[in-house]
Amino acid sequence: MRAVVTGAAGFVGTHLVAALRERGWDVVGTDRRPGADHRADLVDADLDPLVGGADVVLHLAGRASARASWREDFDGYLHDNVRATQRLLHACHAARVGRVVLASSSSVYGGAAPLPTPEDAPTAPVSPYGATKVMAEGLAAAYGAQGLDVVVLRYFTVYGPGQRPDMLLARAIDAALHGDELLVFGDGRQTRDFTFVGDAVEATIAAGTRGPAGRTYNVGGGAPVAVRDVLGRVAALCGGTLTTAGAAAHAADVRDTAADVSRARGALGFVARTTLDDGLAAQVAARRAALAAPSADRR
Ligand SMILES: NC(=O)c1ccc[n+]([C@@H]2O[C@H](COP(=O)([O-])OP(=O)(O)OC[C@H]3O[C@@H](n4cnc5c(N)ncnc54)[C@H](O)[C@@H]3O)[C@@H](O)[C@H]2O)c1
Repeated sequence: MRAVVTGAAGFVGTHLVAALRERGWDVVGTDRRPGADHRADLVDADLDPLVGGADVVLHLAGRASARASWREDFDGYLHDNVRATQRLLHACHAARVGRVVLASSSSVYGGAAPLPTPEDAPTAPVSPYGATKVMAEGLAAAYGAQGLDVVVLRYFTVYGPGQRPDMLLARAIDAALHGDELLVFGDGRQTRDFTFVGDAVEATIAAGTRGPAGRTYNVGGGAPVAVRDVLGRVAALCGGTLTTAGAAAHAADVRDTAADVSRARGALGFVARTTLDDGLAAQVAARRAALAAPSADRR
């Protein structure tokens, strides 16, 4: 299989490229940041030679972080999540790529969806980020109507080694290891359906190779946990206490997330295999190792 992975230097993309290469796939990873085989911004790059001849394009490039989307330049979110997606889908359609997988987000649902949330729940995002992911899904539908097979994955809070530093668990682990205070939005009773990155990667590979055309799937760990419970586990794994400072719930945050993964289980054979305890232990161990390395990024 020949695959192109966009966002290949990012958190999930790094794991995905490694997993595909382990299986012997011919992979080209592309990203705007250093760390991928091919370095370019999807909005400016000549995409025809990049996607030409690919069996599958796994589109993970995007601007993540729902909270930052309230304060950062919205044009950046449009650029990375909407314009980049439109250009990529256009090139894939022209090149007759067999399948595109689009990394979307549980953020498309907003806070009013039933729990656990099935894929046919209405989209009602509560952040500009979530709104751009809805737009990206709309583009997938538009190109789908023209015959391009685009499968959409809605990831639920992915965690594990190399997690983006702005995400809760990465911040919590660093705070616990350094004895710093962690800012926590909300009362800590809000729940999240944490998904280990290895499981998200397996779902992504399955979505690229199995199941009917043009479907949308939730990808969730399947065992939602309260934020304060997960922080307690982080503190225990880091061998100490975690001091937290509370802040009001953030406008970008929904109260609870829980994925109904029955569709992905049935069509893709997706089963989340990594327990939260095992996944957290792996993330803490990886962070300890990174901090012990000579060129450690300590913060
Ligand atoms: N991590 C999660 O919990 C989560 C949850 C839901 C959805 N997602 C989505 O999954 C994808 C991967 O998430 P991640 O956590 O690995 O994020 P990440 O920020 O670590 O990786 C995204 C990568 O995309 C690249 N990129 C962004 N815009 C680009 C452009 N215009 N051209 C070229 N490269 C570009 C970035 O440089 C970055 O390396 C994103 O689309 C994100 O929105 C992630």
